[in-house]
Parts: sequence; structure tokens; C-alpha cells
Amino acid sequence: MEKVRILDTTLRDGEQSPGCSMNIGEKVEIARHLERLGVDVIEAGFPASSPDDLRAVQQISGMIKDAAVCALARCLASDIDLAWEGVRGAVSPRIHVFLATSPIHMQFKLKKEPQEVLAMIREGVTYAKSYCDDVEFSAEDATRSDRKFLAQAFSEAIRAGATVISVADTVGYTTPAEMTALIQYLKKTVVGIGDVTLSVHCHNDLGMAAANTLAALFAGARQAECTINGIGERAGNAALEEVAMSLMTRRDYYHLDCGIRTRQIYRTSHLVQNTTGFFPPPNKAIVGSNAFAHEAGIHQHGVLAARETYEIMTPESVGIPETNMVLGKHSGRHAFEERLASLGYYLNSQELDRAFERFKTLTDKKKVVLDRDLEALISSHITEETGRYALVSFVVNTGNTISTTAVVKLTDGEQEYERAALGEGPVDAAFRAVNKIIGIDFVLESYRLNSVTGGEDALGEAVVRLRKDGDSVSGRGFSTDILEASIKSYLNGANRYLMEHYEKTD
Ligand code: KIV
Ligand code: ZN
Repeated sequence: MEKVRILDTTLRDGEQSPGCSMNIGEKVEIARHLERLGVDVIEAGFPASSPDDLRAVQQISGMIKDAAVCALARCLASDIDLAWEGVRGAVSPRIHVFLATSPIHMQFKLKKEPQEVLAMIREGVTYAKSYCDDVEFSAEDATRSDRKFLAQAFSEAIRAGATVISVADTVGYTTPAEMTALIQYLKKTVVGIGDVTLSVHCHNDLGMAAANTLAALFAGARQAECTINGIGERAGNAALEEVAMSLMTRRDYYHLDCGIRTRQIYRTSHLVQNTTGFFPPPNKAIVGSNAFAHEAGIHQHGVLAARETYEIMTPESVGIPETNMVLGKHSGRHAFEERLASLGYYLNSQELDRAFERFKTLTDKKKVVLDRDLEALISSHITEETGRYALVSFVVNTGNTISTTAVVKLTDGEQEYERAALGEGPVDAAFRAVNKIIGIDFVLESYRLNSVTGGEDALGEAVVRLRKDGDSVSGRGFSTDILEASIKSYLNGANRYLMEHYEKTD
């Protein structure tokens, strides 16, 4: 089996899409998950776009050991300097320079003649190469470029030292058959192509990003650029989980391997969902909530008789926690610890004591504790124990004929604070009371409630996105009481903002 490398650009192209911005702490956490997922290259950001992006790339570079870390740059010396500043501390650094090669981009955006574009590619790649051995060159809008000129541009980049050349379907315009023909043509025509990795970067404007990526791989490309959940500008990028699971499920057809540990897909996807507040539709391939659901009787019957009748891949293969009953009120500490370990959570004994206490509290409210509940419990354990403010109590008085009031009590270490606020409903009133205590008026950008599992006593999960002065942060909270889950999610967001703000002024 030949190996395909996966470049993940969730933190760069994904983050570029409106409403998807992430703070440094969030990016670092996602980078850790990407490393665990087994991606070959993490595109950590575009340092010339903002000082925060540079800092995020630097922090990720200092932390990641098992993947290359890459930073994007235009073909400009100043961008390339900053990209190198970002990745110079990485174990395997890469600079990724790009320039458009299509007539429409050259004429209207760059306002350059084709010969000037070739000179910029030569100079940009040579300059990047003076810093770093591993240099990727992407032809932006490659799929609407003149083929001959595109081949010339790639040949120029290789001559200047590029180690990876990438075909970007920037506007999601191409089709699988067209992509196949283009890759075959480039393999025949580009000078030196046998010595470099041919990459593909597809957008999803016509819903074909994953199909076009797979077509390119089938035709000989050996790096796929993807994002988790397919997030990215406009309709997004090729979804990593779709590409990786296609390669795995149809190994008989592609004869290609990638290093993705598919059992980490679910967890990584959920982290990205909760961080960005972008939730895929239920029918989204691989990571949508219905992707493995067999509701129709005829399907259920088939799956019960033999799973393969309707299941081409198993939920376990992408790491979806089992929904069997695993623990209950009478489960002991040992069984709890073992179950957590089987889910990949290893806590030290103090953490375990506290998590077990939470588990016992949960079993008072919820008879059946499933794996998904345990995952939520561990997440809440982390979110609630790391923040400055913690919820002590709340009282809400609401109704459809009265104004809603909320009284919220928080602790900040030893100190307790209590404030009351009026609001447009219980959630709004409680959030306003929290704002009064913390002394910051966050803007609530998005608010979402999910049920972690089914049933009347299900744990509720609230996810919020808060904004303050251009900085945006997400928060998550869990409880069997949805109002409590909502307040905890708001506090989690506020605590993360405070931590980040504190880091910035540090
Ligand atoms: O879509 C695109 O063209 C890009 C480039 C910067 C590689 O994201
Ligand atoms: Zn892109």
C-alpha cells in the first residue's frame, strides 16, 4: 500500500471562515488532538494575518512532536519572515507559500503578467527555502488556470526548491473526472515532479471537495489537505473524516493508506464542533448525529441479523462511544476507573476521587450512566475545575405573565458573590447576573442545547460562543438541569476569556 499524507488545515483555512475564529488556547487544544489523530502536517495558521496567529503558530510549533507544523505565507518576503518566526521552533517545520495562477486572479487580483507571477514564485520559494528545508508551494485557483502555465509554475517552484506542490481548487469548481485528468497531465508534464510530493486542496462549493480529493489521490497525488468536519471558507474544505474513512473503507479500490487513527475522529470532531460552535447537520457523513443511526425497521432488522447489510463501517471504527448501559448507582470506584481507562481517560488519584464524586452525584439524578455520559462528565470535570469562577447556586423566577429575574451566586476562590438581574427569559436573566458579578458584558454570539443521550433524565449539554471586544471564546456546560448546564457553559466561556486575557497581558 502506498502512503498518503494528510495535511490538516482546520486551524488555518477552517479558522478563516466567518464565525469560526478560535483563540490561542483553543487552537493549541485542537492541535494536540490532531497530533493524536495522526495527521502528518498541521497547518497552524497564517502568521502575517495577525500577531495572535503568529503566537498560536509559535505555541503549537513548540508543542507538537509527531507531526510537521506548517505556516502559510503569500509570496512576499515579509510574510515568509513571519511564517518562519512561527514554525522555527517546530521539530519538523514547513513554510507554505502560495500564489494565484489563473488568468482571472492574475489579471484582477494580482494585476500581474504571467511572467511576473513566475518570477514571484521563483523568488518566494527560494526565499522560503533559505530558512527551511520543507517548502510547499500552492497554486491558488489551479483548477481554473491554463494547464500549460500551471505546469510551468510548478516546474519553477520545484526548481527553486519546493518539496511539495499543491493543486488548489480554491473556488470548488472542478469535478472528479477533470481533477483526475489534471493530475495525470501534471505528472507527465511538470519538470522534477517525481522528486516532490503532489498535494491537493479542495473546496466544497459544489459539494465535491472530498470526491475531488479522492480522485486526485487515485490519480497519483500523495498529500490531501483537509479540515475536521469540513469547516472552511464558504462551503468549506474537504472533510478529513470523509477522506480518511473512504481510504479505509475502500482500501480494495484505492490501495492507499493514511496514518489517521480513525478511532480518534469522533473526539476530534466534537472538540472542533464545540470550539467553533459549527455543528454539522445530522446527515453529515461520518460525524453527523444520524450517520450511524438505523431508525427504519427494515434497516434495523438487517443490521441485527448481520451488521454488514447496511453498515459499511462501524461506529466503533470512528470512535463513537458505545451506548450500552455501562455503570449505575452501585458501581464502585474500581469499575468507574476501568471504564474511564477503556475510553482513553487516565486520571491521577486526586482527579479520580473528584471525578468519582461527580459520578456519584450524577447517579443520584440519572439511573443509567452511558459511555457518552462519562465523556460529558470528564469534560465537565475539566471545564469546571480549571476556571476562576464556579457556580454555587441560582434561583430563577419566570413565567409568561411576569418579568423574569435570576439570582446567581458564584465563588472566586474563597470569596462568594451574589447578583440579581432581569432578563428576557431565564437563560438571559441568569447570563446577565453572571455578567454583573464578573464585571464584563459579553455578547452572546450563539447558544445551543443538546441532549447527550436519550431519555427523560438525559444530561443536557449547553454550548455558547461569547464575544468581547473582537475576541471570541466558546464555553460548554453539562447538567441534568438545562438551566444549570447553560449557566455553566457561560461561566466556562467567561473563565476561558479571563484566562486568555490574563495570558495576553502577562
Ligand atoms: O484555497 C486556497 O487556494 C488556499 C490556498 C491558500 C492554499 O487555501
Ligand atoms: Zn483553501
